[in-house]
Amino acid sequence: MADIQVLDKTFVPFISKEEICQRVAAIAAQINIDYAGKRPLMLGILNGSFIFAADLFRGLTIDAEISFIKLASYKGTSSTGHVVTAIGMEEDLHGRHIIIVEDIIDTGKTIHSFLPELKHRQPASIRIATFLAKPEALQHDVKADYTAFEIENKFVVGYGLDYDGFGRNLPDLYVLKG
Ligand code: IMP
Ligand code: MG
Repeated sequence: MADIQVLDKTFVPFISKEEICQRVAAIAAQINIDYAGKRPLMLGILNGSFIFAADLFRGLTIDAEISFIKLASYKGTSSTGHVVTAIGMEEDLHGRHIIIVEDIIDTGKTIHSFLPELKHRQPASIRIATFLAKPEALQHDVKADYTAFEIENKFVVGYGLDYDGFGRNLPDLYVLKG
C-alpha cells in the first residue's frame, strides 16, 4: 500500500482492510454469543461509525436492530458546562439491550456526556463497541466492551474516520505521516 494525500496532509498505511475485516468479524461473533435471544439494538453514532456499524451488523446472525443518531453538543447548565444531546433518537429504548457503536474513543468525552441521556431512557443494558480506542488520550471514565483495535495517540483516517470531512471512504486505515 502506498502513502495517500487527504487535503493538505500525507498519511501512511496503518491497518489493512483484511485485518479490519478479521477483527470486525471476531467482535460480531462475540456479540452473537453474548446477545443470543436478547434482540439488541445497535445505536451507531454518526457520522464516523457508519462503516464499522454496517460491517458489524452484517456479521450478526442473531435477531438485532440498528439505528443511528447524531450527537450535538452545546453549552448547558450542568456542572461540566457541556451537554450532549442525541438527534434522531426515536426508538423506545425502555427495556432494550443497547450496543453503542462508535468509530473511536479518543478522550471519551463524547460517550461520557451522552450516557446520562441514554440511561434516562431506561434501557435494560448498555454496552459500547468501538472500532478504535486511544488509551493514552482517554480523559473520562469510559471503557468499551468491544474494541477492534487499541492504537497510539496518533491521528488516523479511513474506514469511516475523517480528516476535515474527507478520507472516510478509504477501505484501509491510515495514520498521519511524521
Ligand atoms: P472523543 O474525544 O472520545 O469524544 O472523540 C471525539 C471524536 O473525535 C471521535 O468520535 C472522532 O470523530 C474524532 N476523532 C478522534 N480521534 C480521531 C482520529 O484519529 N481521526 C479522526 N477522527 C478522530
Ligand atoms: Mg465520531
